[in-house]
Amino acid sequence: MNLRFPDGFLWGGAVAANQVEGAYLTDGKGLSTSDLQPNGIFGDIKPRVEGDFGVKDIAIDFYHRFPQDMKLFAEMGFSVLRTSIAWTRIFPEGDETQPNEAGLAYYDRLFDEMKKYGITPLVTLSHYEMPYGLVKKHGGWGSRDTIDFFENYARTVFQRYQHKVKHWLTFNEINMSLHAPFTGVGLPEGSDKQAVYQAIHHQLVASAKAVKACHEIIPDAKIGNMLLGGMLYPLTCKPTDVMETLQQNRDWLFFGDVQVRGYYPAYMKRFFKQNNIALTITEEDKAALKETIDFISFSYYMTGCVTTDETLNNKARANILNMVPNPHLASSEWGWQIDPEGLRYLMNELYDRYQKPLFIVENGLGARDTVEADGSINDDYRIQYINDHLVQVREAIEDGVEVMGYTSWGPIDLVSASKAEFSKRYGFIYVDRDDQGNGTLERRRKKSFYWYADIIKNNGATLKA
Ligand code: BG6
Repeated sequence: MNLRFPDGFLWGGAVAANQVEGAYLTDGKGLSTSDLQPNGIFGDIKPRVEGDFGVKDIAIDFYHRFPQDMKLFAEMGFSVLRTSIAWTRIFPEGDETQPNEAGLAYYDRLFDEMKKYGITPLVTLSHYEMPYGLVKKHGGWGSRDTIDFFENYARTVFQRYQHKVKHWLTFNEINMSLHAPFTGVGLPEGSDKQAVYQAIHHQLVASAKAVKACHEIIPDAKIGNMLLGGMLYPLTCKPTDVMETLQQNRDWLFFGDVQVRGYYPAYMKRFFKQNNIALTITEEDKAALKETIDFISFSYYMTGCVTTDETLNNKARANILNMVPNPHLASSEWGWQIDPEGLRYLMNELYDRYQKPLFIVENGLGARDTVEADGSINDDYRIQYINDHLVQVREAIEDGVEVMGYTSWGPIDLVSASKAEFSKRYGFIYVDRDDQGNGTLERRRKKSFYWYADIIKNNGATLKA
Protein backbone atom coordinates (compact mmCIF):
# COMPACT_ATOMS: atom_id res chain seq x y z
CA MET A 1 0.00 0.00 0.00
CA ASN A 2 1.19 3.52 -0.76
CA LEU A 3 1.66 5.09 2.65
CA ARG A 4 1.40 8.69 1.46
CA PHE A 5 -1.43 10.47 3.29
CA PRO A 6 -4.09 12.52 1.48
CA ASP A 7 -3.16 16.10 0.58
CA GLY A 8 -4.21 18.58 3.23
CA PHE A 9 -3.80 16.08 6.07
CA LEU A 10 -2.83 18.08 9.17
CA TRP A 11 0.35 16.94 10.95
CA GLY A 12 1.46 18.16 14.35
CA GLY A 13 1.39 17.76 18.09
CA ALA A 14 -0.83 18.42 21.10
CA VAL A 15 -0.25 20.04 24.48
CA ALA A 16 -2.46 21.36 27.26
CA ALA A 17 -2.11 24.68 29.09
CA ASN A 18 -1.77 23.22 32.58
CA GLN A 19 0.91 20.74 31.50
CA VAL A 20 3.19 23.19 29.69
CA GLU A 21 2.55 26.84 30.48
CA GLY A 22 3.53 27.18 34.13
CA ALA A 23 3.20 30.87 35.13
CA TYR A 24 0.33 29.68 37.27
CA LEU A 25 -0.38 33.05 38.86
CA THR A 26 1.07 35.34 36.21
CA ASP A 27 -0.82 38.25 34.63
CA GLY A 28 -3.87 37.81 36.82
CA LYS A 29 -4.43 34.09 36.29
CA GLY A 30 -6.68 32.50 38.93
CA LEU A 31 -6.23 29.10 40.56
CA SER A 32 -7.54 26.19 38.54
CA THR A 33 -8.54 22.74 39.75
CA SER A 34 -5.30 21.50 38.20
CA ASP A 35 -3.29 23.88 40.39
CA LEU A 36 -4.73 22.03 43.40
CA GLN A 37 -3.64 18.61 42.13
CA PRO A 38 0.13 18.51 42.60
CA ASN A 39 0.09 14.72 42.24
CA GLY A 40 -1.95 14.47 39.07
CA ILE A 41 -5.53 14.10 37.96
CA PHE A 42 -6.36 11.24 40.32
CA GLY A 43 -4.37 12.68 43.21
CA ASP A 44 -5.52 14.28 46.44
CA ILE A 45 -6.64 17.86 46.33
CA LYS A 46 -4.25 20.15 48.22
CA PRO A 47 -5.21 23.67 49.20
CA ARG A 48 -2.52 26.13 48.06
CA VAL A 49 -0.59 28.01 50.71
CA GLU A 50 1.83 30.84 50.12
CA GLY A 51 5.29 29.66 49.20
CA ASP A 52 4.36 26.05 48.36
CA PHE A 53 5.43 24.46 45.11
CA GLY A 54 4.07 22.09 42.49
CA VAL A 55 5.90 20.90 39.39
CA LYS A 56 3.12 22.31 37.18
CA ASP A 57 3.63 25.83 38.57
CA ILE A 58 6.50 26.24 36.13
CA ALA A 59 5.93 23.14 33.98
CA ILE A 60 8.15 23.76 30.92
CA ASP A 61 7.63 27.53 31.11
CA PHE A 62 5.89 27.52 27.74
CA TYR A 63 4.18 30.73 28.84
CA HIS A 64 7.46 32.57 28.33
CA ARG A 65 9.30 30.24 25.97
CA PHE A 66 6.67 29.56 23.33
CA PRO A 67 8.40 31.59 20.57
CA GLN A 68 11.45 29.34 20.82
CA ASP A 69 9.29 26.19 20.99
CA MET A 70 7.18 27.24 18.02
CA LYS A 71 10.34 27.60 16.00
CA LEU A 72 11.17 23.95 16.80
CA PHE A 73 7.65 22.80 15.88
CA ALA A 74 7.98 24.69 12.60
CA GLU A 75 11.34 23.02 12.01
CA MET A 76 9.55 19.66 12.22
CA GLY A 77 7.08 20.95 9.64
CA PHE A 78 3.98 21.10 11.85
CA SER A 79 0.85 22.28 10.05
CA VAL A 80 -1.23 22.10 13.26
CA LEU A 81 -0.68 22.55 16.98
CA ARG A 82 -3.31 21.57 19.50
CA THR A 83 -3.29 23.52 22.73
CA SER A 84 -5.84 24.64 25.29
CA ILE A 85 -6.79 27.96 26.74
CA ALA A 86 -6.52 28.11 30.53
CA TRP A 87 -10.03 29.28 31.46
CA THR A 88 -8.51 30.90 34.59
CA ARG A 89 -6.36 33.25 32.51
CA ILE A 90 -9.53 34.66 30.97
CA PHE A 91 -11.89 34.44 33.97
CA PRO A 92 -9.69 33.93 37.05
CA GLU A 93 -12.54 32.95 39.38
CA GLY A 94 -14.86 31.74 36.65
CA ASP A 95 -17.89 33.85 37.55
CA GLU A 96 -16.70 37.33 36.57
CA THR A 97 -18.60 39.12 33.84
CA GLN A 98 -15.55 40.92 32.39
CA PRO A 99 -12.54 38.97 31.10
CA ASN A 100 -8.93 39.49 32.13
CA GLU A 101 -7.30 41.42 29.29
CA ALA A 102 -3.76 40.23 30.11
CA GLY A 103 -4.86 36.61 29.69
CA LEU A 104 -6.57 37.34 26.38
CA ALA A 105 -3.50 39.18 25.16
CA TYR A 106 -1.28 36.18 25.95
CA TYR A 107 -3.23 33.88 23.62
CA ASP A 108 -3.22 36.60 20.95
CA ARG A 109 0.56 36.47 21.06
CA LEU A 110 0.55 32.67 20.99
CA PHE A 111 -1.79 32.42 17.97
CA ASP A 112 0.13 35.16 16.16
CA GLU A 113 3.31 33.19 16.64
CA MET A 114 1.66 30.10 15.12
CA LYS A 115 0.51 32.15 12.16
CA LYS A 116 4.06 33.27 11.53
CA TYR A 117 4.91 29.66 10.68
CA GLY A 118 1.64 28.70 9.01
CA ILE A 119 0.68 26.45 11.95
CA THR A 120 -3.08 26.00 12.33
CA PRO A 121 -4.24 26.29 15.95
CA LEU A 122 -6.57 23.58 17.24
CA VAL A 123 -7.85 24.89 20.56
CA THR A 124 -9.46 23.01 23.45
CA LEU A 125 -11.71 25.19 25.61
CA SER A 126 -11.23 23.10 28.74
CA HIS A 127 -8.46 20.57 29.17
CA TYR A 128 -8.63 18.95 32.61
CA GLU A 129 -9.06 22.22 34.47
CA MET A 130 -11.67 24.72 35.48
CA PRO A 131 -11.54 27.76 37.74
CA TYR A 132 -11.32 26.61 41.34
CA GLY A 133 -13.51 29.60 42.19
CA LEU A 134 -16.40 27.84 40.45
CA VAL A 135 -15.84 24.72 42.53
CA LYS A 136 -15.64 26.63 45.81
CA LYS A 137 -18.52 28.99 45.26
CA HIS A 138 -20.82 27.05 42.96
CA GLY A 139 -20.02 23.34 43.32
CA GLY A 140 -18.37 22.99 39.91
CA TRP A 141 -20.38 21.30 37.18
CA GLY A 142 -22.78 20.06 39.84
CA SER A 143 -24.38 23.47 39.49
CA ARG A 144 -26.46 24.49 36.51
CA ASP A 145 -24.97 28.01 36.84
CA THR A 146 -21.66 26.69 35.55
CA ILE A 147 -23.28 26.21 32.12
CA ASP A 148 -23.74 29.99 31.84
CA PHE A 149 -20.25 30.78 33.12
CA PHE A 150 -18.78 28.41 30.57
CA GLU A 151 -20.90 29.79 27.76
CA ASN A 152 -19.77 33.30 28.62
CA TYR A 153 -16.15 32.15 28.57
CA ALA A 154 -16.61 30.33 25.25
CA ARG A 155 -18.33 33.34 23.63
CA THR A 156 -15.57 35.62 24.88
CA VAL A 157 -12.78 33.60 23.30
CA PHE A 158 -14.72 32.95 20.08
CA GLN A 159 -15.24 36.71 19.70
CA ARG A 160 -11.67 37.54 20.50
CA TYR A 161 -9.98 34.91 18.31
CA GLN A 162 -12.56 34.60 15.55
CA HIS A 163 -10.03 35.59 12.88
CA LYS A 164 -7.21 33.49 14.30
CA VAL A 165 -8.71 30.16 15.34
CA LYS A 166 -10.96 28.09 13.08
CA HIS A 167 -10.63 24.69 14.77
CA TRP A 168 -12.02 24.20 18.27
CA LEU A 169 -12.70 21.40 20.76
CA THR A 170 -15.01 21.68 23.76
CA PHE A 171 -13.99 19.41 26.70
CA ASN A 172 -10.89 17.24 26.75
CA GLU A 173 -11.68 13.54 27.25
CA ILE A 174 -15.17 14.38 28.41
CA ASN A 175 -15.72 10.76 29.46
CA MET A 176 -12.87 10.96 32.01
CA SER A 177 -15.28 12.34 34.63
CA LEU A 178 -16.40 8.76 35.21
CA HIS A 179 -12.89 7.98 36.51
CA ALA A 180 -11.71 11.35 37.86
CA PRO A 181 -14.74 13.47 38.86
CA PHE A 182 -12.76 16.34 40.40
CA THR A 183 -10.70 16.76 37.26
CA GLY A 184 -13.65 16.38 34.92
CA VAL A 185 -16.54 18.10 36.66
CA GLY A 186 -15.12 19.61 39.88
CA LEU A 187 -16.88 17.13 42.20
CA PRO A 188 -15.18 15.37 45.12
CA GLU A 189 -13.68 11.95 44.41
CA GLY A 190 -16.14 9.29 45.51
CA SER A 191 -19.21 11.33 44.50
CA ASP A 192 -22.16 9.09 43.74
CA LYS A 193 -23.32 8.28 40.23
CA GLN A 194 -26.38 10.49 40.52
CA ALA A 195 -24.22 13.56 41.22
CA VAL A 196 -21.61 12.70 38.59
CA TYR A 197 -24.14 12.08 35.79
CA GLN A 198 -26.05 15.28 36.65
CA ALA A 199 -22.78 17.23 36.42
CA ILE A 200 -21.94 15.46 33.17
CA HIS A 201 -25.36 16.42 31.86
CA HIS A 202 -24.63 20.08 32.62
CA GLN A 203 -21.31 19.76 30.83
CA LEU A 204 -22.92 18.16 27.78
CA VAL A 205 -25.42 21.02 27.61
CA ALA A 206 -22.56 23.53 27.98
CA SER A 207 -20.65 21.77 25.21
CA ALA A 208 -23.67 22.04 22.89
CA LYS A 209 -24.10 25.72 23.79
CA ALA A 210 -20.45 26.35 22.93
CA VAL A 211 -20.99 24.60 19.59
CA LYS A 212 -23.93 26.90 18.89
CA ALA A 213 -21.96 29.98 19.89
CA CYS A 214 -19.04 28.93 17.70
CA HIS A 215 -21.32 28.38 14.69
CA GLU A 216 -22.90 31.82 15.24
CA ILE A 217 -19.72 33.81 15.87
CA ILE A 218 -17.30 32.03 13.50
CA PRO A 219 -19.42 30.50 10.72
CA ASP A 220 -16.38 29.18 8.86
CA ALA A 221 -14.97 27.40 11.95
CA LYS A 222 -15.27 23.72 12.82
CA ILE A 223 -15.84 22.56 16.36
CA GLY A 224 -15.49 19.02 17.65
CA ASN A 225 -15.78 17.02 20.86
CA MET A 226 -12.94 15.10 22.47
CA LEU A 227 -13.27 11.52 23.67
CA LEU A 228 -10.85 9.30 25.49
CA GLY A 229 -10.89 6.44 22.99
CA GLY A 230 -10.72 3.58 25.45
CA MET A 231 -11.84 0.68 23.26
CA LEU A 232 -12.51 -2.59 25.06
CA TYR A 233 -12.39 -6.11 23.62
CA PRO A 234 -14.08 -9.18 25.12
CA LEU A 235 -11.44 -11.34 26.79
CA THR A 236 -13.16 -14.43 25.36
CA CYS A 237 -15.91 -15.12 22.84
CA LYS A 238 -18.24 -16.21 25.66
CA PRO A 239 -21.52 -14.43 24.87
CA THR A 240 -21.69 -12.93 28.36
CA ASP A 241 -18.21 -11.42 27.86
CA VAL A 242 -19.27 -10.02 24.51
CA MET A 243 -22.44 -8.49 25.99
CA GLU A 244 -20.55 -7.02 28.95
CA THR A 245 -18.05 -5.49 26.53
CA LEU A 246 -20.87 -3.85 24.59
CA GLN A 247 -22.17 -2.35 27.82
CA GLN A 248 -18.78 -1.10 28.98
CA ASN A 249 -17.96 0.47 25.63
CA ARG A 250 -21.29 2.25 25.83
CA ASP A 251 -20.13 3.83 29.12
CA TRP A 252 -17.81 6.07 27.11
CA LEU A 253 -19.46 6.06 23.68
CA PHE A 254 -22.51 7.55 25.42
CA PHE A 255 -20.75 10.94 25.40
CA GLY A 256 -20.13 10.81 21.67
CA ASP A 257 -23.67 9.60 21.05
CA VAL A 258 -25.12 12.69 22.76
CA GLN A 259 -22.65 15.09 21.14
CA VAL A 260 -23.18 13.74 17.64
CA ARG A 261 -26.86 12.81 17.69
CA GLY A 262 -28.13 15.59 19.93
CA TYR A 263 -30.09 13.42 22.37
CA TYR A 264 -29.57 10.68 24.96
CA PRO A 265 -29.26 7.19 23.48
CA ALA A 266 -32.02 4.71 24.31
CA TYR A 267 -29.73 2.37 26.25
CA MET A 268 -29.09 5.03 28.92
CA LYS A 269 -32.70 4.84 30.10
CA ARG A 270 -32.14 1.34 31.41
CA PHE A 271 -28.71 2.24 32.81
CA PHE A 272 -30.14 5.17 34.77
CA LYS A 273 -33.01 3.07 36.07
CA GLN A 274 -30.76 0.24 37.20
CA ASN A 275 -28.48 2.69 38.98
CA ASN A 276 -31.25 4.73 40.61
CA ILE A 277 -30.24 7.83 38.70
CA ALA A 278 -32.91 10.42 38.00
CA LEU A 279 -31.54 13.37 36.06
CA THR A 280 -33.05 16.81 35.86
CA ILE A 281 -33.22 17.49 32.13
CA THR A 282 -35.27 20.52 31.13
CA GLU A 283 -36.97 21.17 27.80
CA GLU A 284 -34.43 23.94 27.26
CA ASP A 285 -31.59 21.44 27.83
CA LYS A 286 -33.09 19.10 25.24
CA ALA A 287 -33.30 21.92 22.71
CA ALA A 288 -29.70 22.99 23.45
CA LEU A 289 -28.33 19.46 22.96
CA LYS A 290 -29.62 19.48 19.38
CA GLU A 291 -26.70 21.69 18.31
CA THR A 292 -24.18 19.00 17.38
CA ILE A 293 -20.47 18.90 16.66
CA ASP A 294 -18.79 19.02 13.24
CA PHE A 295 -16.13 16.37 13.82
CA ILE A 296 -15.04 13.78 16.36
CA SER A 297 -11.69 14.07 18.03
CA PHE A 298 -10.19 11.51 20.36
CA SER A 299 -7.10 10.36 22.19
CA TYR A 300 -5.73 6.89 21.70
CA TYR A 301 -3.08 5.21 23.80
CA MET A 302 -4.26 1.68 24.54
CA THR A 303 -7.00 -0.91 24.52
CA GLY A 304 -8.07 -3.34 27.22
CA CYS A 305 -10.33 -6.32 27.81
CA VAL A 306 -13.55 -7.20 29.59
CA THR A 307 -14.37 -10.47 31.30
CA THR A 308 -17.27 -11.75 33.36
CA ASP A 309 -15.07 -14.38 34.96
CA GLU A 310 -14.51 -13.15 38.51
CA THR A 311 -11.27 -15.09 38.95
CA LEU A 312 -9.72 -13.31 35.98
CA ASN A 313 -11.37 -10.05 36.88
CA ASN A 314 -9.52 -9.97 40.16
CA LYS A 315 -6.14 -9.98 38.42
CA ALA A 316 -4.05 -6.83 38.61
CA ARG A 317 -5.56 -4.33 36.22
CA ALA A 318 -3.46 -2.98 33.39
CA ASN A 319 -3.67 0.79 33.50
CA ILE A 320 -5.27 3.95 34.84
CA LEU A 321 -8.65 2.88 33.47
CA ASN A 322 -8.48 -0.47 35.26
CA MET A 323 -8.80 -2.43 32.07
CA VAL A 324 -8.20 -6.18 32.17
CA PRO A 325 -4.87 -6.84 30.38
CA ASN A 326 -4.87 -8.36 26.91
CA PRO A 327 -2.58 -11.44 26.91
CA HIS A 328 -1.58 -10.75 23.30
CA LEU A 329 -0.15 -7.27 23.84
CA ALA A 330 3.01 -5.78 25.33
CA SER A 331 2.81 -2.85 27.73
CA SER A 332 4.62 0.41 28.27
CA GLU A 333 6.46 0.85 31.55
CA TRP A 334 3.31 2.46 32.91
CA GLY A 335 1.20 -0.58 32.05
CA TRP A 336 -0.52 0.95 29.00
CA GLN A 337 -0.90 -1.82 26.45
CA ILE A 338 0.41 -1.04 23.00
CA ASP A 339 -2.06 -1.86 20.23
CA PRO A 340 -1.58 -0.08 16.89
CA GLU A 341 -4.22 -2.19 15.14
CA GLY A 342 -6.66 -1.16 17.84
CA LEU A 343 -6.42 2.37 16.48
CA ARG A 344 -7.59 1.26 13.04
CA TYR A 345 -10.36 -0.73 14.69
CA LEU A 346 -11.46 2.23 16.81
CA MET A 347 -11.41 4.61 13.84
CA ASN A 348 -13.59 2.29 11.83
CA GLU A 349 -16.01 1.87 14.71
CA LEU A 350 -16.28 5.63 15.29
CA TYR A 351 -16.70 6.41 11.62
CA ASP A 352 -19.31 3.69 11.09
CA ARG A 353 -21.20 4.90 14.14
CA TYR A 354 -21.07 8.63 13.51
CA GLN A 355 -20.23 9.29 9.85
CA LYS A 356 -18.30 12.39 10.84
CA PRO A 357 -14.67 13.24 10.09
CA LEU A 358 -12.21 12.11 12.76
CA PHE A 359 -9.21 13.92 14.22
CA ILE A 360 -6.65 11.96 16.25
CA VAL A 361 -5.65 14.64 18.74
CA GLU A 362 -3.53 12.54 21.12
CA ASN A 363 -1.38 9.46 20.69
CA GLY A 364 2.11 8.64 21.80
CA LEU A 365 4.41 6.70 24.08
CA GLY A 366 5.26 7.82 27.59
CA ALA A 367 8.78 6.53 28.27
CA ARG A 368 11.96 7.31 30.18
CA ASP A 369 14.66 8.78 27.97
CA THR A 370 18.40 8.65 28.45
CA VAL A 371 20.66 11.51 27.50
CA GLU A 372 23.87 9.94 26.17
CA ALA A 373 27.32 11.29 26.97
CA ASP A 374 27.37 13.10 23.63
CA GLY A 375 24.02 14.71 24.43
CA SER A 376 21.97 12.62 21.98
CA ILE A 377 18.68 10.93 22.90
CA ASN A 378 18.05 7.81 20.87
CA ASP A 379 14.36 7.14 21.36
CA ASP A 380 13.87 4.36 18.83
CA TYR A 381 11.02 2.92 20.97
CA ARG A 382 9.04 6.15 20.41
CA ILE A 383 9.73 6.13 16.68
CA GLN A 384 8.54 2.53 16.50
CA TYR A 385 5.37 3.27 18.45
CA ILE A 386 4.34 6.27 16.38
CA ASN A 387 5.34 4.65 13.10
CA ASP A 388 3.17 1.61 13.84
CA HIS A 389 0.18 3.73 14.85
CA LEU A 390 0.45 5.99 11.80
CA VAL A 391 0.56 2.97 9.51
CA GLN A 392 -2.77 1.92 11.02
CA VAL A 393 -4.19 5.43 10.55
CA ARG A 394 -3.24 5.12 6.89
CA GLU A 395 -4.99 1.73 6.77
CA ALA A 396 -8.11 3.30 8.24
CA ILE A 397 -8.01 6.01 5.59
CA GLU A 398 -7.80 3.24 3.00
CA ASP A 399 -10.83 1.65 4.69
CA GLY A 400 -12.69 4.85 3.83
CA VAL A 401 -12.49 6.68 7.14
CA GLU A 402 -12.35 10.46 6.77
CA VAL A 403 -9.45 11.81 8.87
CA MET A 404 -8.58 15.48 9.31
CA GLY A 405 -5.21 15.08 10.99
CA TYR A 406 -2.95 13.67 13.66
CA THR A 407 -1.42 15.48 16.62
CA SER A 408 0.93 13.35 18.67
CA TRP A 409 0.69 13.91 22.41
CA GLY A 410 3.42 16.04 23.96
CA PRO A 411 5.68 16.81 20.97
CA ILE A 412 7.78 18.56 23.59
CA ASP A 413 8.25 16.88 27.01
CA LEU A 414 5.68 18.09 29.52
CA VAL A 415 4.24 17.25 32.93
CA SER A 416 2.27 14.00 32.77
CA ALA A 417 -1.40 14.26 33.66
CA SER A 418 -1.95 11.08 35.65
CA LYS A 419 0.90 11.47 38.15
CA ALA A 420 2.31 14.96 37.46
CA GLU A 421 5.74 13.44 36.77
CA PHE A 422 8.40 14.55 34.34
CA SER A 423 10.12 11.21 33.86
CA LYS A 424 7.23 9.97 31.71
CA ARG A 425 8.20 11.70 28.49
CA TYR A 426 6.35 11.87 25.18
CA GLY A 427 8.37 14.47 23.31
CA PHE A 428 10.36 14.73 20.12
CA ILE A 429 11.96 17.61 22.02
CA TYR A 430 13.63 16.87 25.35
CA VAL A 431 13.23 19.32 28.22
CA ASP A 432 15.82 19.31 30.98
CA ARG A 433 13.70 18.96 34.10
CA ASP A 434 13.07 16.16 36.61
CA ASP A 435 10.22 15.01 38.85
CA GLN A 436 11.38 17.28 41.67
CA GLY A 437 11.45 20.29 39.40
CA ASN A 438 15.24 20.50 39.03
CA GLY A 439 16.81 21.25 35.67
CA THR A 440 17.68 24.06 33.30
CA LEU A 441 14.55 23.76 31.10
CA GLU A 442 16.87 23.64 28.12
CA ARG A 443 15.36 22.12 24.95
CA ARG A 444 17.12 19.41 22.94
CA ARG A 445 16.15 17.55 19.76
CA LYS A 446 15.73 13.77 20.16
CA LYS A 447 16.26 11.24 17.37
CA SER A 448 12.48 11.13 16.90
CA PHE A 449 12.54 14.87 16.12
CA TYR A 450 14.35 14.24 12.85
CA TRP A 451 12.29 11.13 12.14
CA TYR A 452 8.94 12.93 12.58
CA ALA A 453 10.15 15.87 10.46
CA ASP A 454 10.89 13.40 7.68
CA ILE A 455 7.49 11.72 7.96
CA ILE A 456 5.76 15.09 7.74
CA LYS A 457 7.91 16.23 4.85
CA ASN A 458 7.00 13.11 2.90
CA ASN A 459 3.38 13.16 3.98
CA GLY A 460 3.72 9.67 5.50
CA ALA A 461 5.34 8.04 2.46
CA THR A 462 8.48 7.11 4.45
CA LEU A 463 6.61 5.20 7.16
CA LYS A 464 7.54 1.53 7.53
CA ALA A 465 4.68 -0.91 7.14
C1 BG6 B 1 -4.71 12.15 28.08
C2 BG6 B 1 -4.80 13.59 28.49
O1 BG6 B 1 -5.47 11.44 28.98
O2 BG6 B 1 -3.51 11.48 28.18
C3 BG6 B 1 -3.47 14.30 28.60
O3 BG6 B 1 -5.68 14.31 27.68
C4 BG6 B 1 -2.44 13.36 29.17
O4 BG6 B 1 -3.65 15.46 29.35
C5 BG6 B 1 -2.29 12.17 28.26
O5 BG6 B 1 -1.22 13.94 29.45
C6 BG6 B 1 -1.24 11.17 28.69
O6 BG6 B 1 -1.41 10.80 30.01
P1 BG6 B 1 -0.22 10.88 31.05
O7 BG6 B 1 -0.78 10.54 32.34
O8 BG6 B 1 0.79 9.91 30.57
O9 BG6 B 1 0.27 12.29 30.98
